[in-house]
Amino acid sequence: MMFSPLGDLPDDEARLAEQHLLWRGCLIDALDRLGVGEGLSVLDVGCGGGRLLADLAYRVGPMGRVHGVERDPALVEQARATLGDIPWATAEAADLLTAPLGEGWDAILCRFVLSVLPDPATAIHRFAAALRPGGVLVVQDALHDSFSVFPPNEVITSTLVTCAGLAGARGIDLRAAGHLPAALVGAGLELVEVEPKVHAGRPGSLAWRWCERSLLNQLPVLRAAGLLDAEHEVELRAAWAELGQHPGAMVMTPTAVVIAARRPKR
Ligand SMILES: C[S@@+](CC[C@H](N)C(=O)[O-])C[C@H]1O[C@@H](n2cnc3c(N)ncnc32)[C@H](O)[C@@H]1O
Repeated sequence: MMFSPLGDLPDDEARLAEQHLLWRGCLIDALDRLGVGEGLSVLDVGCGGGRLLADLAYRVGPMGRVHGVERDPALVEQARATLGDIPWATAEAADLLTAPLGEGWDAILCRFVLSVLPDPATAIHRFAAALRPGGVLVVQDALHDSFSVFPPNEVITSTLVTCAGLAGARGIDLRAAGHLPAALVGAGLELVEVEPKVHAGRPGSLAWRWCERSLLNQLPVLRAAGLLDAEHEVELRAAWAELGQHPGAMVMTPTAVVIAARRPKR
């Protein structure tokens, strides 16, 4: 999952709920600016457990339609449960790289998905073809560079570097969002806006708690890869707890960029 680039994490539900809350606002602001609202048809590709899909369903209302495509059947079940019995909202288990995506969508949303795909360009071309002329593709994805703590802490910083190294070795680009505007243009779309957002927060804030989980939930993955021994894990946990007691501590999140592009009218 994005911001945990090292793969699926155990006990990740709270982190994902906080993630949605933290990054939802800037995406919703973009949808307001772009006029993605009442009565429109919206496809959410890689919809995960459906938190955003539910927001979209209430946003477009009964005159609109929303549909989620998600590869993981367990998450599709979760998305259906999240949607409840909204008649104009559906979710299906399918691979966005191969399944028919339909056509004529007013808007397609893709949040924290393209950066985990081996070949995002193929997906973007498919999304472009599934939009109606004048329809808009809205992507939210991450640049991890800004993820940092203050006052700087050597143990925490070196663990972030280790995470980044492992992600890179596994072919995951932690700066993926930076390449997406050009990829959207390359698929024949017209770029409408590019809006970055970084949160900063004190200990206990939503940004702090989400960064804490994003880091600490990855430790089992580092352990399994042989990149963190028990002693270092204790040291890291102690360093994070100590930083949280500092009255002037601050965390900066990764940057999430919202990128919107339209399919030309003809
Ligand atoms: C980081 S999660 C983001 C989930 C959701 N968009 C959100 O913002 O909460 C990435 C999601 O993309 C899904 N995914 C990855 N590759 C996919 C594919 N080829 N087809 C469909 N879903 C895919 C994953 O299963 C996962 O649920």
